[in-house]
Amino acid sequence: MMSNHSIAGLALCATLLGTGLTSAFAADETLRSLAEKNNIYVGAILNSQWFNGGLPGNYEQIHKTQFNIVVAENEMKFDATEPSEGRFSYGNGDKMVKYAKANGMRVRGHALAWHSQVPNWVNNYKNDKQKLLKVLKNHIENVVGHWKGQIDEWDVVNEAISNNEPQWRSYSVWYQGIGPEFIDSAFVWTHAVDPDAELCYNDYNLEQGINSKAKAGFLLEQVKRWVANGIPIHCVGSQTHVEDTTTDKHFIGSPDSLRSLAKELAKLNVKLKITELDIGFKSGINVSKSDLERQGQTFRQYLDIVLEEPNVDTYLIWGVSDRWSWLGGLNRQQGLIYDESLNPKPAFDSILVRLQTYEPPQDTAGKDSTKKDSTANDSTDAIKTFANMSSLSMHLSDRTLFITGATDAKVEVFDMQGRPVFSAKNVKGSVNLKVADGLYVVRIRDGSKSLMQRISIK
Ligand code: XIL
Repeated sequence: MMSNHSIAGLALCATLLGTGLTSAFAADETLRSLAEKNNIYVGAILNSQWFNGGLPGNYEQIHKTQFNIVVAENEMKFDATEPSEGRFSYGNGDKMVKYAKANGMRVRGHALAWHSQVPNWVNNYKNDKQKLLKVLKNHIENVVGHWKGQIDEWDVVNEAISNNEPQWRSYSVWYQGIGPEFIDSAFVWTHAVDPDAELCYNDYNLEQGINSKAKAGFLLEQVKRWVANGIPIHCVGSQTHVEDTTTDKHFIGSPDSLRSLAKELAKLNVKLKITELDIGFKSGINVSKSDLERQGQTFRQYLDIVLEEPNVDTYLIWGVSDRWSWLGGLNRQQGLIYDESLNPKPAFDSILVRLQTYEPPQDTAGKDSTKKDSTANDSTDAIKTFANMSSLSMHLSDRTLFITGATDAKVEVFDMQGRPVFSAKNVKGSVNLKVADGLYVVRIRDGSKSLMQRISIK
């Protein structure tokens, strides 16, 4: 039974929330389907173990269902693609590009000119500027040429700035042998080979402020110069390997700082992309449920930059599951959105709900559709294939939620920022939602079926 009051409430809710109406009746929403709706890219790396078939089947299933952009953890780096001089190795990269195309995903190439993961043979030429220039140019021409038209964006230069008192990173073989102009050249060479690819400068610690002492401040000056000189740079990648601020009081990064960088780059007509996000806790500490919920909120704050800033279009996470993550080497743990058993963590929910509830401001609606460039792939078919058709339905009467089609459901209620506010297990027919008046998202899960819907309680 449904009271007139609640029917009116739902109708009002649908009217008020606009786009919510369509999503309210979608069978099973994924990060991917909601990313598409919001005109952004949400992704995760393919971990190195995937390339050797070393991951369980549900890893790939999750990856292609939830994400619409992909990058290889290690397999397109210099040591992987040109392990010995002039001999190129593309097998793994080809495998990823094929996977991405089959599943309608955008592809990032990572990374062309970087001081790390450079094969030893390059160091033989460290005092020979002319030879090093040839080595880098030849590498770029071959690698970018091989995937021309198939890789949508490249990290052309990675981590060229040092951490303290920002200046160029002096111990890079490219910087030592060539000088900072290796950067300008790398962009020009890449653009010449694949003029349609978006070209990024990628680095970490860019969420630590934009004053001249901070890395992002130094970078901004360089971007201004590159743009003024006609160097083909289209984007800055912010790796965003950050630490939970409550467990590490010394960590100084913040989503607000990264947002300031996005706004400064917008003035230069350059995009910002979040390219390697993880939000780890210190190794060795006990991570509680509320720590994980706070972590979810930080994931959501970084997502808000992508949703709200017109020149930010990508939210890429450096791993899928905490089981396969590079963070241990950084003395951090549990920085991703799926746990060790590939179950979604509170951070996953927080991202999902935020994508579900976000509505672009009226006066900028339409601007968002220009966020993605023309190289974008249409992944609609892929989404349809993986959508889990569900026979679940829900009706609200005052605070009582009636569920049909479920035998043993878990009911969760989130606020509009993705914070969990109520949950109940083993629900058969109905449950009383103990929440204050307001707008919420309800998710019902019953075995493999799930349903999300916005509600208004008053
Ligand atoms: C890391 C990989 O995750 C590790 O497997 C590898 O051993 C080292 O590199 N910044 C980058 C990435 O640009 O390429 C790094 O990836 C993480 C930091």
